[in-house]
Order: sequence, then structure tokens, then C-alpha cells
Amino acid sequence: MALKAVKGFNDILPDESRRWQYIEQTARRVFELNGFGEIRVPIVEKTELFSRSIGDATDIVEKEMYTFTDKGDNSVTLRPEGTAGVMRSFIENKIYALDPIAKLYYMGPMFRYERPQKGRYRQFHQIGAEITGVNDPLADAQLLNMLTLFFREISLTEPTLQINSLGCPECRPNYRRALQQFLQQRIETLCDDCKRRFTTNPLRTLDCKIPGCAEATAAAPSVLEHLCNECDNHFNSVKRYLDLSATPYSINSRMVRGLDYYTRTTFEMVTGLLGSQSAVAAGGRYDGLISQLGGPSIPGIGFAMGLERVALLLENKDFTSNPELFIATIGSSERDMAFTLMDGLLKSGIRVEMDCESKSLKSQMRRADKLKCRFSVVIGENEIATGKAVFKRMEDGLQSESALTVDGIKLLLGAVK
Ligand code: HAM
Repeated sequence: MALKAVKGFNDILPDESRRWQYIEQTARRVFELNGFGEIRVPIVEKTELFSRSIGDATDIVEKEMYTFTDKGDNSVTLRPEGTAGVMRSFIENKIYALDPIAKLYYMGPMFRYERPQKGRYRQFHQIGAEITGVNDPLADAQLLNMLTLFFREISLTEPTLQINSLGCPECRPNYRRALQQFLQQRIETLCDDCKRRFTTNPLRTLDCKIPGCAEATAAAPSVLEHLCNECDNHFNSVKRYLDLSATPYSINSRMVRGLDYYTRTTFEMVTGLLGSQSAVAAGGRYDGLISQLGGPSIPGIGFAMGLERVALLLENKDFTSNPELFIATIGSSERDMAFTLMDGLLKSGIRVEMDCESKSLKSQMRRADKLKCRFSVVIGENEIATGKAVFKRMEDGLQSESALTVDGIKLLLGAVK
């Protein structure tokens, strides 16, 4: 029996890859415009990095990590997200010593053992960006504007931006207590996972998709009403900057994130077009993470988008590109001429195809059709003798004569649209 890929791990075939390249290239252009530089970090890290950053009581660390012991008896993990590794590198390479303000972006595969479905995979790909060293809410707004600009540049009006604040180590414990008090009275109506979360991570109950839990937490206290003055001011300034730049957003005070390192601003780009996988991009501020990982006390903020989810939103856009010309030949002696012509055209950036299997003229023309070539030309003895040929526009049969030279053909392809 032929072998199949591992469940939740996908092949990206050429037509899909073109869509991915478009997304990646647009992200690179928009991020570089905003002063970000690319960082490439390993896919495998020490397991401890993720338990210390994402948090022991999160779904990711509790049940979704691909963790194994390597031959040197070290516990290592396939990265479930990008921020932890980037911050590990930021500290290890003392990037901050040169300038604590770093703007870094990355793209690549991440791994989570989740239940696969549309928009959710076990190997998935993120494009992420992080800013370190700026406490000011202006950085939050700059990052959100960049994310918004990215979606505008790829011509998507979906998804829309939702923001929230999760407070800081000063005020969050108050909110946690208030929420626990509220949940205490409803604990029997919560699902088993949320009963456990009640003590380990009560904020996550707000995120539970089980109808009974959603109902039980519908009237839960809002985190925004429990922010300390500094966090409240910070959140108000983020909103003011977004308003100043006319960036559309809405406030979602029930948004909690699946990673523990967040402080203050959190956000998601959400869509209604992907069923339950509504977050296309997400992120937030993590002012304590760098010091928590053994680095200096430097704040940070960032996001990551799910490449597969962005690609799904672009599914109707056609990224196929067709050859400009198919060169058909009648006899074997003409193939030498066709081959050098094809080589010359390719070297000047024109996409050309020709028959490589000495097929009949009829089957060569069928192939030209199949490849959706814009033009075709047949080279026989007569064409070799005169150095000219008739080029046929495939869509309507329009015929134009040109010299059988690279320059002549370029001229013709440019002139006949
Ligand atoms: P996250 O919310 O866990 O955040 O993931 C970010 C995005 O990755 C999600 O919004 C989603 O689009 C995509 N994603 C996550 N899991 C899957 C999956 N199983 N299949 C397909 N796509 C998925 C983070 O990872 C943070 N590191 C973001 C961040 C950067 N925060 C600060 N800086």
C-alpha cells in the first residue's frame, strides 16, 4: 500500500504555493516598509522554553506539544509558536545590547497536536512580527496598523480587528478573583475542562466553545472594568492612536488568549468565513516575557497570522500563470532551432514551452491548449528557410508574422495583447 502523509500534515502543491508566495511576499514588503528585519530561528527548541513562556496550564503545553527525547537524552519540542524562540534568540544573541528596540519578523512551520479540521492542522505555518523595547502604546498601534495594512494590501476586507486588554501582574489577580467568585456560583454548569480551568486558568473559561459554558459565563465581569490606572491609560491611548489613523476595530472584552505571556493589549483579526477557526491572526503585548526567560527587563509586543487561514480567505483568487508561447516542431531537424530559440527566450524572461518527446503535431497542439499558452508557433522546413513564422493567438486564432529571433518574438508578444 502506498504511504500517506501523517494526519494533520499537508503537502502544499504548486498552485497553492503560488498563493502562499503572494502572501509571504506581501508580508515581507509591508514588514520591511515598517522597518522590520527577518529572523530565522530553529524549529526545535528545549521543551523548557515553551513551558516557561507559554505557560504550564495552557492547552498548548498541557496537551498539544510534539515533545520527544533526543539521542542525547534532552527533552526537545517542535515549536508550537514563534515568539518564544525569537525571544530566546533575542536574549542569547544579546540583540538588545546593540539596541533594545528590535523589529523582527519570521515565517515558517509550527506544530500543535490539535484535532485537524478546515483551517486547523498539526503542522501549520505562521508569519509573525515582534517589536521589543517600546512600552509606549504607540508601538501597539503601529503594529496593528501594519497588520491592517497587510490585509488591505492582499485585498481582504475580512478579517476585522478586535482588541482587548488583559491587564498586568498588578491588576489581573483582582480580575481573576472577581471572575472566580462569579464562576463559583455556576461551577456545576461548567464542562469538565472548565471545572479544572476554574483553578488553573479561570480566564480560559470565557473562551470555551461548549454552549453550557458560554451561557454560564455570558454575564461574567469584564476585564476592562478591573484594569489599574496605568493599564487603563495604556488601553485608552492604543484606541486613540487607532482612531487617529482611522484604523477600524472593535472591543472584545471576552477575548482571552491561549498563551500565558500576555500583558495589557491583546488582539485578534477575526473572520466569519472559516467556521470555528475564526482567528486569522492574533497577538498582544508581553512585557514580562523577556525577563521571565532570563533576559533583561524589556517589553515586547507582536502577532502571528496563520498562513493556511489567510490562504483559505484568498481561495477565489487565481494565481496560475500561463506560458507566453508554445513552440511546436514538424521534424527533428527543427527541434535544434526551437530549442535554441526557447533557451534565448527563457534567458530574456519569457515563459516558453516546447515538445520534448517528438510527439505528432496534433498532440503538440493539444499540449499547448492544455498548458493554456497565450501563443503558439509551428516551425517546419519553410520557417527555417525564411527565418519567419506565423504566430497564433490561442484564444481567438489571430495570426501575426514575426522573425524567428528572440527580439522579433519579444516585440510581437509585447505588441499583440
Ligand atoms: P496563536 O493565537 O496561538 O498566537 O496563533 C496565531 C495564529 O496562528 C492563529 O490566529 C491562527 O491563525 C494560527 N494558528 C494557530 N494554531 C493553528 C493551527 N493548529 N492550524 C492552523 N493555524 C493555526 C501565537 O502563536 C503567538 N505566538 C502570536 C504572538 C506573536 N503573540 C505575540 N507575538
